[in-house]
Amino acid sequence: MKAVVFKGPYDVAVENVPDPTIEAPLDAIVRITTANICGSDLHPYEGRAPLEAGMVLGHENMGVVEEVGPGVNRIKVGDRVSVPFNLACGTCRNCNDGFTSACLRANPSGDPGAGYGYPNMGGYWGGQAELLRVPWADFNLLELPAGSDFENDFTMLSDIFPTGYHGTELAQVRPGTSVAVFGAGPVGLMAAYSALLRGAYQVFVVDKQTDRLTLAEQLGATPINLADVDPADAILDATDGFGVDCGVEAVGYQAHDAAGEEHPEMVLDNLVKAVRATGHIGVVGVYNPSDPDAATESAKEGRIAFNYGEAFFKGISIASGQCPVKKYNRELRDLIIHGRATPSVIVSHELKLDEAAYAYDNFDKRADGWTKVLLKP
Ligand SMILES: NC(=O)c1ccc[n+]([C@@H]2O[C@H](COP(=O)([O-])OP(=O)(O)OC[C@H]3O[C@@H](n4cnc5c(N)ncnc54)[C@H](O)[C@@H]3O)[C@@H](O)[C@H]2O)c1
Ligand SMILES: [Zn+2]
Ligand SMILES: [Zn+2]
Repeated sequence: MKAVVFKGPYDVAVENVPDPTIEAPLDAIVRITTANICGSDLHPYEGRAPLEAGMVLGHENMGVVEEVGPGVNRIKVGDRVSVPFNLACGTCRNCNDGFTSACLRANPSGDPGAGYGYPNMGGYWGGQAELLRVPWADFNLLELPAGSDFENDFTMLSDIFPTGYHGTELAQVRPGTSVAVFGAGPVGLMAAYSALLRGAYQVFVVDKQTDRLTLAEQLGATPINLADVDPADAILDATDGFGVDCGVEAVGYQAHDAAGEEHPEMVLDNLVKAVRATGHIGVVGVYNPSDPDAATESAKEGRIAFNYGEAFFKGISIASGQCPVKKYNRELRDLIIHGRATPSVIVSHELKLDEAAYAYDNFDKRADGWTKVLLKP
């Protein structure tokens, strides 16, 4: 099959690799119809999360089931499915508690949590390819209506729609709350979209990419350009000095200022300042336990020196982590089917799998207008 293979930093290629096969009775093989490029793919792409050469990339996958192992009895050949980016056993303690993002059995290293095509997540090949092997298929796969309707909406269900929604869940967004989302990348845009779905009365979105801020405004949010103003001050000014109820971090460890200089503590500091006393922050932007190329010595060891003192003093709750996709994907699917959500509004490019190198290059540069890229094998 053809697949997007990681060759080294800033180097991916579409190559022929062996087809995946059923390796365990609960496996399924999915023929991919759409696989997206994610901001998380850029961490290994830039060499900022070391990945072995030869890995097939891609954790935002959907398609049609091509083959199932002898132990699979819910999912059938021919089913159209969304594949959550977390890969989980369904029976361990964390899976039983709903934290498929921290499955205790899926990652052979023993670390909690596994995924496709990503460093330290179990070594599973990704789905930017013609075919994908899905372990524990009955548990992991979400069924979709047959056909091709809503393809570009459903493809958001494997990661960024649930992840943006999870950010608002962690930030305790309820009807009648005000929200600040930092980052207008795909995840931040989905967080803003989710906050509005959940009944927030005002949503600020902070970034410096004007194309992404324009999209945030089209979704109904209030854009704030960090190149023009101090974003926390702007949010305080707009809320009579009170601050917002809820803050979502959708940037991650490569947070930078308007000049492009990295400050890994910057967004957390801004959120602690902009969220009201006793408010809530949800962090879905990724921070890593080790980052050898980080901007500061402490950040190299995952120590992010943000203003925890002020956060404590204000009694702000901070929750974080990978999104347990299965917690949300069925309900978000049904919002799509019933016309109440259209997450495809952020899609900027639909390209052939063969165009992956060109797509990675432009998405990595945050080239103007490159918001969300879908690859069609
Ligand atoms: N927790 C999860 O389960 C999960 C899932 C998917 C992605 N993620 C993470 O979410 C983050 C965002 O992903 P994405 O796909 O939207 O990526 P992205 O890199 O395209 O978007 C990040 C955005 O943040 C902006 N930004 C940089 N510094 C900023 C600052 N100081 N203030 C405000 N905005 C700033 C950038 O301009 C960019 O538009 C990444 O860290 C990604 O790894 C987490
Ligand atoms: Zn992703
Ligand atoms: Zn498990």
